[in-house]
Amino acid sequence: MAEHREWTEMLHHIVRQRQTVLPKRLVGPAPSQRELDQWLEAATHAPDHGRLRPFRLVFFPTAQRHKLGQAFAQALRERDPSASEAQTQRAYEKALRAPVLLVLVVDAGPADAEISLHERIICAGCAVQNLLLSATARGWGSSLTSGKAMTSAAVRALLGLKPSEHAICCINVGAAEHRPTGERPSVHDITRTMTDAGPVDGLSQQA
Ligand SMILES: Cc1cc2nc3c(=O)[nH]c(=O)nc-3n(C[C@H](O)[C@H](O)[C@H](O)COP(=O)(O)O)c2cc1C
Repeated sequence: MAEHREWTEMLHHIVRQRQTVLPKRLVGPAPSQRELDQWLEAATHAPDHGRLRPFRLVFFPTAQRHKLGQAFAQALRERDPSASEAQTQRAYEKALRAPVLLVLVVDAGPADAEISLHERIICAGCAVQNLLLSATARGWGSSLTSGKAMTSAAVRALLGLKPSEHAICCINVGAAEHRPTGERPSVHDITRTMTDAGPVDGLSQQA
């Protein structure tokens, strides 16, 4: 029992440690293959209604990053043909910053899918959080980044997406300086308790 208490405290500590560290603040070295495998294995433990495996994590090794950078630059040109050379270069460089970069892809399935896109995205979100916590536990910094490029024709073509698939965000990981975590909402802010009068703010076991 005492051992379990320690694990629980450790888990809470790791959860509280996780915070966004944007790619510009992530530095090398990259983790080992074994560590990457552990993060991805953690992602496989997400709750998955219907066991659909509705998401994919597309890993971009360093040698392939320029392709994502080109797709980001192309995406900017697609939506803003007047974008300057400097803006296009910045879009390109977004793909190069983090030592580890994966793109999260979720498959909505057929139009009449019994398990909706909402549920599939929750499954993918849980998987991503498992991955982030696994990386946090080892002291790595991480972040999710998205933006309009994710829905662009250029990124879709690079990832080879089917019409039902969506690129949701990039998962960035690397070494980072520890910083205090930002302000969090209170439990009261995120909870409602059902009462005879309907849902009321906060958590109450007496209702
Ligand atoms: C799906 C998703 C996409 C995100 N995309 C971006 C982004 O493009 N740029 C950014 O600065 N933060 C992005 N974030 C990170 C949030 O802004 C961040 O989680 C928020 O600022 C809270 O910080 P925290 O993670 O330290 O709690 C994204 C978060 C999620 C869940």
